[in-house]
Order: sequence, then C-alpha cells, then structure tokens
Amino acid sequence: MGQSNKASGGGATAQPRATVFTCLYKQLPKRLHCRLIRGLPPLRPYRWKGGLKMMRMLLDPTRMSREAESLHVRLQKRIVGQDDALRQIVDVYQTFLSGMAGTRRPVGSFLMLGPTGTGKTRTVEALAESLFGEARAVIKIDCAEFQHSHEIAKLIGSPPGYLGHRETHPLLTQESLNQFHTEEVKLSLVLFDEIEKASDSLWNLLLGILDKATLTLGDNRQVDFSRAMIFLTSNLGAREIDALVRPNLGFAAGLANDSSHVDTSRAGKIAHAGVGAARRIFSPEFLNRIDKTIVFAPLGEPELRRILALELEAVQDRIHRAVGVSSVGFRASRAAEDFLLCEGIDSRYGARHLKRAVERLLVAPFANLIATGQVGSGDSLLVDFDQSTARLMFLKETKDTACGTVSPVPPQAMAA
Ligand SMILES: Nc1ncnc2c1ncn2[C@@H]1O[C@H](COP(=O)(O)OP(=O)(O)OP(=O)(O)O)[C@@H](O)[C@H]1O
Ligand SMILES: [Mg+2]
Repeated sequence: MGQSNKASGGGATAQPRATVFTCLYKQLPKRLHCRLIRGLPPLRPYRWKGGLKMMRMLLDPTRMSREAESLHVRLQKRIVGQDDALRQIVDVYQTFLSGMAGTRRPVGSFLMLGPTGTGKTRTVEALAESLFGEARAVIKIDCAEFQHSHEIAKLIGSPPGYLGHRETHPLLTQESLNQFHTEEVKLSLVLFDEIEKASDSLWNLLLGILDKATLTLGDNRQVDFSRAMIFLTSNLGAREIDALVRPNLGFAAGLANDSSHVDTSRAGKIAHAGVGAARRIFSPEFLNRIDKTIVFAPLGEPELRRILALELEAVQDRIHRAVGVSSVGFRASRAAEDFLLCEGIDSRYGARHLKRAVERLLVAPFANLIATGQVGSGDSLLVDFDQSTARLMFLKETKDTACGTVSPVPPQAMAA
C-alpha cells in the first residue's frame, strides 16, 4: 500500500490505459471479475511497476486453440483407442498454427510403430480427411517399392544426361507437395509407409529431409519441406508387443474386461518394446532427427466394437452410393454385431481381420440382395443372427398398414 501512495503522487494528468482499466475493473463486484474475461482464470492482486498499476493473470499453456480442438474431435471420431497418438499430432498442429514451428525443419516428424492393423496408416488418412476433406490428400510413399537404390529415381528423378531423364517425373516435387494446400491450411502430409523396407538411399534422402527440410531433385531443384508433417510407419517390435498382450486379447477376454484394452503398466512395456526394436534397426542419427516416436497400442474387444460401428457406417455409405438417393437403410442387432466381432477378432491382424469379416459376411450378401432386386430404394433391412444356422439373416422390414407397426419379411424370402 505504501507503494500505492508513492505512485499516485506522480500526478497522472493523462492516466495510462492500464490504470483506467484497472480502476473500472476494481469498481465491479468481485464475483463479476472472472465473468468479465470469460474462460480465463481470476486476476492476481495488483503490483506496481514503473509507476503503473499492473495485473497478473495466471495463463493456461495446456489449453488448445479452437481449430486444434476441433481437429482433435474430428480425429477421435475416426480413430479408436489411439488417443496418445492423436494428442501428439494435434499438439504439433497447434504449434504449426501458432507460427512457432521451427524454421528449416519439417513442421513435425513422427515414427509410428506398433502391430499391424492398429491404425497407423489410417491415422494419417484420417488427418488428411479432417484437414482437407479427403483421405487421399497425403503424399504416400510405399517404401516396399523402394528396396533397391536405383528406384530412388522415381522419387527425385534422374540427373540430366542420364538415360530416361526426361521420362521419369519425380514424385516429390514442390508442386506435388503443395497440391492439397487450401486457403486455410498450407500444410503438406507426407507418409513413408513401412519404412523398414526402404533401401539405404531412401534412408539418406530422409536424413536430409528430416534435418534441413530440403530435398535436392535429380535436376538440382530444391524442394522445401518446412510446411510438411512427415510420418514414417513400421511394424518393428510388433512381435514383442503381440507377446505382451496376447493372453488378454480375444473375444472372451474382451467381454470379461470391458474397461480399457491395455492397463497403464502394460502400455509402458508395449511402448518400451516398440522403441527398443526401433533402436536395434534404425541408426541413432536417424532416430535423433525424429520429433516423436509413437507406439500404437494393440486393439482389444471394446475398441474393435467401436471400429465395427465405424465399419457399419461405411457399409451404409457404400449402399447409398450403389442404390442412390432414397437408399436402403439397414441396422444390425446386438447379436449380429457380436457374431461379426467373434468372426473378426484375431490379435495378429488387428482391425484388418474385422474388416475382412464385414466384407465377407455383410457386404457380399448385401451386394447379392441389391443385384437380384430383392431390396431396392426406400427399403429398410434388419441384420440379425440366426442361432439355429449360426449365420446372419437379412430381414426386410415393411410397414404393416393394418396396425401401423413394422414387421419383418420372413427370412426365407431374403436368403442372401
Ligand atoms: N485405431 C483404429 N481406429 C479406426 N479404424 C482402424 C483402427 N485401426 C485400424 N483400423 C481400420 O483397419 C484398417 C487397417 O488399418 P491400418 O492400415 O491403419 O493399419 P496399420 O496399423 O497401418 O497396419 P500395417 O502395419 O499392416 O500397415 C483401416 O483402414 C481402418 O479401417
Ligand atoms: Mg500401414
């Protein structure tokens, strides 16, 4: 308070703005202070600096911007059970949005490890869908196609004078990198899938991209990767991870434990197994250039059940596209879902096995029903499980005009 007298003695004829604001602010009832600045924590007591009344506000550096938050929500709708991976990607996106991403480096580089069919590739596609509206808005390099050094020419083109120089159009040009940019998002997504299969020359190429965000093409043009997120995926360590989780996977185990698929201590061991395997294969200078190493967790029954729901939505979309505007609607009973899950769970193949089961047991019969005209525009179907034959049955539901209820057409009329 002693300080307060000293400052007011300074004779403020034209009061600085901060002082005017603090006076007005002080006159408000205390309970309004927080509401005045919505969403921000309360102001700290005043203190004096250079003759001005100062306020201190406690800030929240963990808060996400609205754009980053909305990206997170869109990703969560598409990707199941990999929240750590999503969070790390969104954090990097937030850094990019704020303009704080380092210069002369890619916006972010991620090494994604983990068992097959757990969503590594799908996560990058889902990011493209969420940012640009289509899953194909990613430059995807399938490293299995670059197992020999000479194949690198497909990426960077051949130097002038070499045979076929004019015929090889490099994949990684600046134009191809920028092709999906929009007014709002000037960001490129580059995916090197199954990186462990790449040849040494692709590794060396990657070292330059990850380190300096530049690539020199065969004709000496430079490609700038400083507005790119680079994703590398690999199955390394998948076998060790599988051994850690196998006893707890499977349909029966999943039903018994409906909570989370991997407890925290096991999650730590899984991450350790993944990173350990990567260390054995990748050189330290390579791993040093990666910003984040993410180990995708194996999927258990609760996650696969949610993925099944996504797959059923995808099947409905396919029917819409096949049949047209007033399409065929379908719903699956819980027993039918259980059956699909039972058929589609195999810890070795993750969600891939489930997708195959949906294709075989649902999509193929639907295709038959549509092709043979048993269902058409406006029809609605119920997919149920028939205990006696241990198969799915397809029931067309029609309105019973007499009593106004919906009654299924007998199954024999709908044999798929
Ligand atoms: N976590 C997940 N959330 C939603 N869908 C998933 C998830 N994991 C897998 N899927 C489904 O399974 C399919 C295969 O997954 P994906 O290609 O991402 O596997 P992967 O981890 O890249 O496996 P691989 O190492 O064999 O390439 C995806 O297209 C998606 O439909
Ligand atoms: Mg993949």
